[in-house]
Amino acid sequence: MLFSEETPDELLADLDRGISLPAHWYTDSKITEQELAHIFRSSWHYVGPAAQLANRGDYVTGQAGRVPVVVVRNDQGLSAFINVCRHRRHIIMKGRGQATSLQCPYHAWTYDLQGGLKRAPRAAAGPELRLEELGLLPARVETLGPFVFVTLDLQARPLADCYGSVLQQLAKTGVRPGELECHSREEWRFEANWKTMIENYLECYHCPVAHPGFSAAIDVRPDRYKLHADGLVFSQAGEVRPSALEGKTRLPLYDLVGEIKESQYYLLWPNTTINVNPGFPNLSIDVWIPDGANATKGFSEQYFAPGVDAQFARDLIAFNKQVAHEDETLTDSVQRGLLGGLPGRGQFLVSSEHLVVGFQRMVVEALRDTKGR
Ligand SMILES: [Fe+2]
Repeated sequence: MLFSEETPDELLADLDRGISLPAHWYTDSKITEQELAHIFRSSWHYVGPAAQLANRGDYVTGQAGRVPVVVVRNDQGLSAFINVCRHRRHIIMKGRGQATSLQCPYHAWTYDLQGGLKRAPRAAAGPELRLEELGLLPARVETLGPFVFVTLDLQARPLADCYGSVLQQLAKTGVRPGELECHSREEWRFEANWKTMIENYLECYHCPVAHPGFSAAIDVRPDRYKLHADGLVFSQAGEVRPSALEGKTRLPLYDLVGEIKESQYYLLWPNTTINVNPGFPNLSIDVWIPDGANATKGFSEQYFAPGVDAQFARDLIAFNKQVAHEDETLTDSVQRGLLGGLPGRGQFLVSSEHLVVGFQRMVVEALRDTKGR
């Protein structure tokens, strides 16, 4: 049913002409199910900072798409598991912290830090349970600089092969990923399809129209603002405006003077984004997870280099929130437009929106071989 109206080859040919995916790809839960199964099941997902997994028993929970995962430090290093009990499939660990074992709060089935099932109350009294066959299902965990990622695909390409270029780019522009410290975290939910959110992220054609403060800070002119696609990484970069450094803007901005002279925005396919703004070394990372076809939930974590000034941190976070709020207004409206189904297809301005076109191509290619599954 996925390609009932258009074949993948037709959609790809349309994208070559700047014609977008059909509206129903953004509103139909059957498409979202296909995306969860064929994109999110095999990709890498950011779950948290490596610094929060420094000691034995430290754990961080997260999501690989819709699948709950937990990463724990044990005697072997970092291990990742599906964070769901083998018994009645209650979620086992919540949030982040320190534990000596992973105990399900439903019936107290208890797993060790290697994921082995060690105890199930009353198990000895009932029909025999083979505890050794009921360990937590494994996931894979790897780190990229200070960031911990998980994948459900035990054969996935190594994380550094997928996204290593981002660390190199960050290092070139004055952000030293190894020294960044996680400062704060926020969870959120938006009323738009995950692709609506990501596609909005992937172009700055809307910036002069919809982000006055951002556009006063960053040079978003098309001949200056850089867009680049390389494998699984889509990147954008814009220099800080001299007028903003001199404080000559109509709108109040945060203090942009600092080691970082350029803003940088990265999508790590499919749903992790990394943002760096000019000023004192900073980085935020966001994860965007489909919550049905018409909503997206996720979280953002703000990192800074050590010694960040508290006022700068507050001001930069407020600046990012303002931009996010402006984007939310746009994506809400796009989603309501898509829900009506007409126009069925959109028309891109490819010179400014080629990253969006590239993203849609990757979605089609990921789903093209799944017909009937
Ligand atoms: Fe935006």
